[in-house]
Amino acid sequence: MNGTNSIRTIQADFSPGMIDLAIGHPSPSLLPLQLVRRSTEQQLATDFTPYLQYGYEPGDGHFRVALAEFLRRHYCLPVSEEELFVSGGVSQALDLLCTVYTKPGDTILVEEPTYFLALRIFADHGLRVISVPIDEQGLVVETLEERLKELRPAFLYTVPAHQNPSGATLSADRRRRLVDLSRDKGFLIVADEVYHLLTYEAQAPAPLAAFISADTVLSLGSFSKILAPGLRLGWIQTCPRLWRPLAECGMLDSGGGLNPFTSALVRSALETGALDAHLGQLRREYGRRLQAMKTAIDGELSGKVEYSPPNGGFFFWLRLIDGGDSGALLTRAKEKKTSFVPGSAFSAVGQLQDRLRLSFSYHPPEVLQEGVRRLQESLSENPPIL
Ligand SMILES: Cc1ncc(COP(=O)(O)O)c(C=O)c1O
Repeated sequence: MNGTNSIRTIQADFSPGMIDLAIGHPSPSLLPLQLVRRSTEQQLATDFTPYLQYGYEPGDGHFRVALAEFLRRHYCLPVSEEELFVSGGVSQALDLLCTVYTKPGDTILVEEPTYFLALRIFADHGLRVISVPIDEQGLVVETLEERLKELRPAFLYTVPAHQNPSGATLSADRRRRLVDLSRDKGFLIVADEVYHLLTYEAQAPAPLAAFISADTVLSLGSFSKILAPGLRLGWIQTCPRLWRPLAECGMLDSGGGLNPFTSALVRSALETGALDAHLGQLRREYGRRLQAMKTAIDGELSGKVEYSPPNGGFFFWLRLIDGGDSGALLTRAKEKKTSFVPGSAFSAVGQLQDRLRLSFSYHPPEVLQEGVRRLQESLSENPPIL
């Protein structure tokens, strides 16, 4: 995986023969080398050199124009380049937002379950994390309202479409109520919309980016899942009042706007329509993998797990019907050379032991089928896991 010798280049690291259903990275076979090569050549063929210079703090203007055009088409919303701040991806955007909008000890709200690596970023900033439950329609806004009687959070972090890990998508009605609540109670909504464009079946509701005029919403997007995570490029869509403090922070004052060179090559992919075509291919292939994993789960794990099928994103979120600790199951699964992420990783309060997350993004359908079969063997072993 990491080349021919021990020098490492990529984050994923699994042993030979392992079918890792834990990994939520894009499939290696879907990383578009040709597209990146052509886009880079197009940029390097011009005499336009500003992208080799320290960049304008909110991000390269040409790139922001091209990105606004792309989002207008894909979000079906009016989007202005003035609403866009260029980031180094969602993780970096979260870190920057914490730096600028919080101080250690502040309270923030997250979903239960939530994206586990965001919890790591919040911990780095010394934040007090309180969770709010979700159901099949995403964040339970009534419970949020209850919590807000006692709490004054700096922000709420939510993954509104095809959530990692649950696959749940926040309903259109709840989106409106959530935004109304943020205005009434005066907290920010940090919406991680990284999977919004990866919808394979039913149409997703309009992104939370549709509500930025409320002045409380920051919508985070990324090229990691729709192009390549190695580019480390994303954006924050919000009103200028909310992105300006980010552009004025010390890091950007010293280092300039983020990733001007990468922005230039992605701009080519946006302007030529190459990214549109690639996105179509991703939707078809990931949709096929989703179906393959669903068929495998229904065939192999029927009566042992229950779940709500996702219609986008990368993940299935399973509940062990007979209870039991998915951490213990993981030990057995690894002996059978498969893997997943145990539910407790996604809990801010040490719960969800009877849950597990399977990813269908990385492996092709036949490998997913075999991974789920190995999981079935691990679950069927005696004595049953407790
Ligand atoms: C919900 C969510 N947010 C953010 C990320 C990371 O995004 P980026 O690569 O843009 O930092 C991931 C990657 O798995 C994710 O699932």
